[in-house]
Amino acid sequence: MPSRQKTASKKSSKRGKKKKNISSEKSGVSADETVRTPINKPETEKIVGSKEEVESELLTKLKKSLALSPIQNLEMMEKLRTAPLEQLFEESKQLQREVKVDLVIEGQYKEALELLMDADTAGLYPALVGPPGVGKTALCRYFTEIRAKLTGNDSFEWLTFDEATRPSHLIGSFNPALTINQGFIPQAFNFGPLTRAMLRGGVFLANEINRATEFTQNTLLEPLEERTINVPHLGRIQASQGFFFIAAMNPSEIAGTHRIGDALKDRLKVWIELTYPRKITELRIIKKNNPHFVLGDSYLDKIHALISATRTDSRVELPASLRTGIAIARLMGLFCQKKNGDDLTAKLAKISYHVLIGSIKTKPGTQPKNVIMRIIKEQLGFTIK
Ligand SMILES: Nc1ncnc2c1ncn2[C@@H]1O[C@H](COP(=O)(O)OP(=O)(O)O)[C@@H](O)[C@H]1O
Ligand SMILES: [Mg+2]
Repeated sequence: MPSRQKTASKKSSKRGKKKKNISSEKSGVSADETVRTPINKPETEKIVGSKEEVESELLTKLKKSLALSPIQNLEMMEKLRTAPLEQLFEESKQLQREVKVDLVIEGQYKEALELLMDADTAGLYPALVGPPGVGKTALCRYFTEIRAKLTGNDSFEWLTFDEATRPSHLIGSFNPALTINQGFIPQAFNFGPLTRAMLRGGVFLANEINRATEFTQNTLLEPLEERTINVPHLGRIQASQGFFFIAAMNPSEIAGTHRIGDALKDRLKVWIELTYPRKITELRIIKKNNPHFVLGDSYLDKIHALISATRTDSRVELPASLRTGIAIARLMGLFCQKKNGDDLTAKLAKISYHVLIGSIKTKPGTQPKNVIMRIIKEQLGFTIK
């Protein structure tokens, strides 16, 4: 801990002395939210005592949190432990059908949706390009839902590619036991996501397509050119009407990706770029994704300042995504709901640290920890130990 901070810590803890908190002022947090203690002041509520006492204290805290949480249900948890797995499987399928995607559709997202619709109508295959967590997958799901409102067909299949993805992961494979007994017949074949989408006239999203090897990428050439695919031992499948293919990828400069092959690139005709949305849209997205953990605008502004700083910092290779802002806001929202009188800005700094440390990637030779601590210091005016 820097010595300046130590002194501040000592002074602020002096009984009865009302000290103005310079760091909070600098951080722009409104007066009622102003924090009176720096982050590295030891926690006031120390956990002391026997193991049983500690456990009981933690349980009380957990109970209090769970009582406040609209997304956790204690009774349900107990039921889940003993319910038959077949029943849970059926319920989970039903749940998937019921969960609707609720997106903020404005700016780049509205434009991208319109382009996806035009590409679909024109029989052209699009590619969504953008860094992780800007909403590529969410947009494709939403597109499928809108399409299903007109066509009644909500078939949506997707696969996230990596170096280990093989053509059979796309096409499917024969069940060895059934094949030995019955031979190479369709009933013995487990269709893959691509062949399922082709037969059902659904949407297939090839997520992170540029992480696949060229060998696997080439499996897509025939479906995209001819709308057919050859299944060894079964024969050729012709795609049904409505089959639509969307590729999604991170910009190729982000490490860990192969290049997309020229032949495949030539078959993707509409290129849609998504980037980090503008502030007003991103804040709406954060709110939409945290309906149960509401947070004041001054904190949302702070969170946005933190994640934006990672996006302009030259030491950062992969900055904070939308998911990062959503996660920080959710934890902070929960914390505020508990109203236990703790130092809120200090808590925001700590929460941000714990989320950011796993969310960003720094350039070689730079420690994420140092970069994050610097950003938190600059944006919130607090030093983390
Ligand atoms: N327009 C949007 N409106 C609401 N939430 C969004 C929007 N775009 C992205 N999100 C949310 O942001 C997170 C990341 O989106 P995702 O589609 O998984 O990103 P990507 O596929 O680009 O990695 C998800 O939690 C998603 O629900
Ligand atoms: Mg995705």
